[in-house]
Amino acid sequence: MEIKVISGDAAKIEAGAIILNLFEGMEHPDGDTASVDKALDGAISQLIDQGEIKGKLNEVTVIHSLGRLPAARVAVVGLGKQEELTLDKIRGAVAVTCRLLRRKGVDSVATIAQGAGLGDITLEDSAQAIVEGALLGLYTFRKHKTKNNEVGELKELTIVDVDTTKVSALEQGSEKGRILAEATNIARDMVNEPANYMTPADMAEKAMELAKKHGLKVEILEREQMQKLGMGALLGVSQGSQQPPKFIILRYQGGRSKEPDIALVGKAVTFDSGGISIKSAAGMGDMKGDMAGGAAVMAAISAIAQLKPEVNVIALIGATENMPGGSATKPADVLVAMGGKTIEIVSTDAEGRLTLADALGYARKEGAKRIVDVATLTGAIRVALGDICTGAFANNQELVDKVIAAGAEAGEKIWQLPTYDEYKEQNKSDVADIKNTGGRPAGSITGALFIGEFAEDTPWVHLDIAATSMTDKERTYLVKGATGVPVRTLVNLVLSLDGNN
Ligand code: BES
Ligand code: MN
Ligand code: ZN
Repeated sequence: MEIKVISGDAAKIEAGAIILNLFEGMEHPDGDTASVDKALDGAISQLIDQGEIKGKLNEVTVIHSLGRLPAARVAVVGLGKQEELTLDKIRGAVAVTCRLLRRKGVDSVATIAQGAGLGDITLEDSAQAIVEGALLGLYTFRKHKTKNNEVGELKELTIVDVDTTKVSALEQGSEKGRILAEATNIARDMVNEPANYMTPADMAEKAMELAKKHGLKVEILEREQMQKLGMGALLGVSQGSQQPPKFIILRYQGGRSKEPDIALVGKAVTFDSGGISIKSAAGMGDMKGDMAGGAAVMAAISAIAQLKPEVNVIALIGATENMPGGSATKPADVLVAMGGKTIEIVSTDAEGRLTLADALGYARKEGAKRIVDVATLTGAIRVALGDICTGAFANNQELVDKVIAAGAEAGEKIWQLPTYDEYKEQNKSDVADIKNTGGRPAGSITGALFIGEFAEDTPWVHLDIAATSMTDKERTYLVKGATGVPVRTLVNLVLSLDGNN
């Protein structure tokens, strides 16, 4: 989609549709909505009077201009109560409106800078939210369909403001929104891709492609190099699969120090069958998305490379399949992680934490000052939180507070769960240093605490996205399938470290 910012009168814009908004309870349109209403001989006011337009959140009314405006249609979207407006509501309203217009065959839209100047919403914020809403809401994954799309394509989005002095702020916000949304859609593509098209080797290739495009350093470690590093936990997960594992390292150097200011670690099990502790057939296909954490950190660092903060970032992705096979790891086997800790395997289906143990080991070897890992780790997180928010776990309150704030800014909800020492009892093993499952109670917490053992004293946050990385229903700017959570949170987090290192 082409995105433009221009200065001009909303009532004079040529487009398939112009998007305007109305707040709940407003009896008369104001601002740009008022001038367009006038050009439409009061059609909007009339519809408000008649009760058809109420301004309720995401209510969209399409009015045909029939030659009274250069724009063929006017879409009035409700933003709810004015005093309750948030950036996330703007993202959602734009997404819903753009999808409706696309269904009607509209291929170009214009919009005013919705919400700008209300509360603490700046011009940049507004433009960013509009572009994110449009690009995220219009996302589709049609790669494997051989027939043409029956719905059209929205090719052009223009943000218009009467005031020429506002153009540069709107352009800045719109560019940031584009970078964040496109990165999110890259992660979505990777997660939506079936596992036979997104093997560890495919992930490595994608990493090289992103590195080349955005000027990141990239390194791919093969099995032999992982063996030399002592990554016995990750290799233990891999050994039942025909697909060779790949350990992907991406670096962005924007800061002054030698060490990474932050390591972003992503779980990347490209298919999780459960291994010898095999999963039941129902819903197993969803496990093609068990690399969503890895996809998110790869996409995030590619956005970071474009936004160029003064921070050093390393992204670490231990990509592997988890398959049963003659050489697969078995329950009761003992694996040795990088750094020497021994792990008793209780369930080969608790594989994510094993891959993360070695990735965190690598982050520590690199001297990373902070670690954030992102993983589709436990089914239990859906029991605890549903699919509304991502679960957060930490050994450092300051860092997790930053992560949660970065998420709030992105409209990606994150809720912290406890990591009391008492829970660690459940991970104690009779035969090794630790075991890989702590039983059913508090499964997400014991999973997190297992990973935390390998963070040791490095400030660390774990995000469990098992319930939030995919959605089975459309929700404003989220469409069915991969959500791309928490790409925008990770980028915001790294931007918040800019200059504070
Ligand atoms: N990849 C799964 C977690 C998962 C479940 C992600 C549902 C997305 C949707 C993970 O590897 C897993 O199998 N976890 C087990 C842990 C258990 C064996 C301790 C689980 O949640 O059942
Ligand atoms: Mn598993
Ligand atoms: Zn898994």
